[in-house]
Amino acid sequence: MAKATNKKAAVPKKAAAQKVAAKKVAAKSAPKKAAAKKVAVKSAPQKVAAKKAAVPKVAPKKVAAVSDETMLQELFLDSIKDIYWAEKSLTKVLPKLSKAATSPELQQAFTEHLRVTEGQVGRLEQVFELLGKKAVGVKCEAMVGLTKEAETMIQETKKGSKTRDVALIMAAQKVEHYEIASYGSMATLAAQMGLAEAKELLGQTLQEEKDTDSLLTQIAESSINQQAEQEGSEEEEGQGETGGDEEQLTKDADVEEEE
Ligand SMILES: [Fe+2]
Repeated sequence: MAKATNKKAAVPKKAAAQKVAAKKVAAKSAPKKAAAKKVAVKSAPQKVAAKKAAVPKVAPKKVAAVSDETMLQELFLDSIKDIYWAEKSLTKVLPKLSKAATSPELQQAFTEHLRVTEGQVGRLEQVFELLGKKAVGVKCEAMVGLTKEAETMIQETKKGSKTRDVALIMAAQKVEHYEIASYGSMATLAAQMGLAEAKELLGQTLQEEKDTDSLLTQIAESSINQQAEQEGSEEEEGQGETGGDEEQLTKDADVEEEE
């Protein structure tokens, strides 16, 4: 029985190996194609429009009726709108995170990231411009969820405690990782579509998000985690209160979006 099972298992492996080999062959010729594409659609919105006209309409009826863009171009634009909304919402949430923080270095990190985020909003507006599109956001449900979670974490920790700072760092790093995933994917897509300038802009923001994530880890590990570990229960600490008006992150965090 065991032998028969082994034999069977060997067959899919071979097939898989063949597939991988075939893929490798295909991949070898791919860069040439990508390079040709890049030349054809280099930067200018007019050239992007020319490309659009040349693309055969293979999309389902519903898509073809509203747009002559490829599905991938639509997906890319939707992703830009999503993160644009998320960044604008963050510019309203970050000052509240800073206010909720106890450690001066964490307050400073949030304040600094607000300045960085404003620059990122500007970069996304440049990407919209490169695409020949109006800069509009579409509600990012992930960011709404992450903000709600941060709000809950703040409400469940004591004001003025290092434990609250730990919660704030955790919440902020979840946001950073969402952004890293988003910008990483979008920069790769921009490169694939020959949008070199957009790729460069998205790549710059990607690096900033990674730097912020590293800074937060550094702040947590250098002092805050250890100090929080030494804190007792809420009753023992006897300082501050749980919750508070200033930590209502979701209040006014909504931003204007596409109609
Ligand atoms: Fe950001």
